[in-house]
Amino acid sequence: MLYPSRKILPDHVPPELVVDYDTFSVDAPDGDFAAAMVRLRDSGVPALFWTQRNGGHWVATGSSQVRQILEDAANFSSRAMRVPKSANPVPPIIPLMLDPPEHHKYRRLIGPAMTPKKVQQLEDRARILSVDLIETIAPLGRCEFICDFAQQMPIAIFMGMLDLPAGDRDHIMAVVDRIIRPDVPETRMRGFEELADYTMAKVRERRASPGEDLVSQLALAQIDGELLDDAALQGLMSVLLLAGLDTVAGMLGFIVRFLATSPAHRRQLREEPALISSAIEEFLRRMAMVNLTREVERDVVLDGVLLKRGDLVVVSTPLGNFPQDGQDWLAVDFHRPRIAHTTFGAGPHFCLGAMLARAEIRIFLEEWLSRIPDFEIPESAELKVQVGAAAMIPQLPLIWSPIEKDAPTVFAGTISNSSAGLPTMRHPSSSAER
Ligand code: HEM
Repeated sequence: MLYPSRKILPDHVPPELVVDYDTFSVDAPDGDFAAAMVRLRDSGVPALFWTQRNGGHWVATGSSQVRQILEDAANFSSRAMRVPKSANPVPPIIPLMLDPPEHHKYRRLIGPAMTPKKVQQLEDRARILSVDLIETIAPLGRCEFICDFAQQMPIAIFMGMLDLPAGDRDHIMAVVDRIIRPDVPETRMRGFEELADYTMAKVRERRASPGEDLVSQLALAQIDGELLDDAALQGLMSVLLLAGLDTVAGMLGFIVRFLATSPAHRRQLREEPALISSAIEEFLRRMAMVNLTREVERDVVLDGVLLKRGDLVVVSTPLGNFPQDGQDWLAVDFHRPRIAHTTFGAGPHFCLGAMLARAEIRIFLEEWLSRIPDFEIPESAELKVQVGAAAMIPQLPLIWSPIEKDAPTVFAGTISNSSAGLPTMRHPSSSAER
């Protein structure tokens, strides 16, 4: 465990609401985080319970509490984004860690980076990178999916959004690694500082020589007639990397773990590519993996439980997606009617990158399945789930029978060349004009 437990139970916490639960350690030997959270909820724990671990905090497990807390920014502040309070980055990551009305002033500054046109440009870039990566690893017959593929796409997207030079990639990867996989809490804080130093150096460069990119726009943006200060600039740029990195990598990992163990679902997607849009929604619902935190703004009673100002509440987004109504919500069903899920949050902080995230999942499904149609997890692999702000499978080894580059592959009843991909899909990276 990274952080110490609290020694004395706060006076307002009834002992019957205490559960010994470590939010950073989940019992998911099969690598299925959402199912583990559902098991916790169904194990008879209260819908709102307290744990002394990680500094002491509440945990919301009921689907109605999850949504209610996220939508109620007046009572549940975003000033703390993780437990314990000491683990929160300084300066804050903006707009994630701001509350309305301040929050909106900053959120609108990054909205223009997420328009459909901008997302399309980034998507094209991510598709080229993905095809390159997949075509490099396909002949090898094995890979470690998270490092070799899943983390590469969000980093490429971040670099594209901020127009960063390719030569900076290794530095960014190293910093990201310190933030996502810290050995001790200090490593994580050092990672945040390094990221802040890096982004500020870019701001200085673009101020001296502005371009059309987002860094230049942010460097010149004003709020209430003032240029943004360094802390706000650092926070805004960090969010574009951090909010889209372990989320997308984590989501892709859980999707791949599932597909590797379900030949029937792989076949369905290959034989019926039109199902991909609904498959994306079903994967988003089923594989949710973000744990959010809120700080109680003022004493409030929720479902009969008194939460005191300053208490922290961990809200696990998967638990908004598995209603307790007798239906089998753990089953993955591409024909399931679309439901409102909390995978991207709810309320004022609803994910700004949702369109981009969907595009990244689509690219993966289209480009990977057309080149590596069948794959599995080696029997010797032991899957672990690592839980931070987002849960992920940190190492996901895959094996498959390498397909020779020009060998024909059967898709949707037709024979196509494996490097040309699914016949009914758009493949800019493999088209002759590029
Ligand atoms: C599957 C992938 C993703 C998931 C599951 C996800 C999930 C979330 C969630 C749950 C929130 C709400 C945070 C809160 O309420 O405190 C959020 C916010 C946010 N996300 Fe995502 N996200 C994903 C991908 C992305 C991507 C690709 C980007 C952009 C690069 C992005 C940018 C943001 C930003 C900027 C916010 C902050 C919005 C605000 O505070 O107003 N996300 N995301």
